[in-house]
Amino acid sequence: MPGMFGEEWAGTRPEIIRLGLSDLNRCYSLDQACFSQPLAFPKNFFLYLLVAPDCISFGIKKGRRLQGFITLQVKNREQAQLITLDIALDQRRRGIGKKLLEFAHSYLRERGLKEVFLETAVNNKPALSLYKKSGYQPLRTLKKYYPDGADAVRMGKKLSAE
Ligand SMILES: CC(C)(COP(=O)(O)OP(=O)(O)OC[C@H]1O[C@@H](n2cnc3c(N)ncnc32)[C@H](O)[C@@H]1OP(=O)(O)O)[C@@H](O)C(=O)NCCC(=O)NCCS
Repeated sequence: MPGMFGEEWAGTRPEIIRLGLSDLNRCYSLDQACFSQPLAFPKNFFLYLLVAPDCISFGIKKGRRLQGFITLQVKNREQAQLITLDIALDQRRRGIGKKLLEFAHSYLRERGLKEVFLETAVNNKPALSLYKKSGYQPLRTLKKYYPDGADAVRMGKKLSAE
């Protein structure tokens, strides 16, 4: 859906900002810190995610440091996929993940999207707990989804008014 995320968007909550190409190294480094190989995304993939017109990333920074970020991709007129949600190790359990997730839901809902889905490893307890708490339902198991052979669970959430 080209043009879905125009550059004009300036954000309504000052602490959450839209990320761009200048954040490439920050996003890549934070993802490397969050996931071990071969699960972390290659730098080229972040390059794509930060410039593709159907993708958008939001983050929270303290100074120049990225504390956490979320990346979304619109798949069609109704559905978006949560590509990743990464919070710096020393910033976890402070509500940043939940805040970014809720912001993403509002952002997508305001643009008329109806559903968001994601995949996460079946053994990623923090993520599973956060997503369940945020209203995601497990949809199906994806066997050997990850490059290390781990299974994923696909989860979805309807973006009805909350
Ligand atoms: C999963 C992740 C994004 C959570 O971010 P966070 O900012 O620490 O989460 P929050 O502080 O907003 O926590 C919200 C809820 O998530 C759940 N949660 C978060 N961390 C948890 C943990 N270590 N164990 C169990 N539940 C956890 C809890 O239900 C929590 O609510 P509570 O604090 O009231 O109990 C973070 O741990 C992370 O970046 N992990 C590595 C990357 C990753 O796996 N991302 C998901 C990719 S799909």
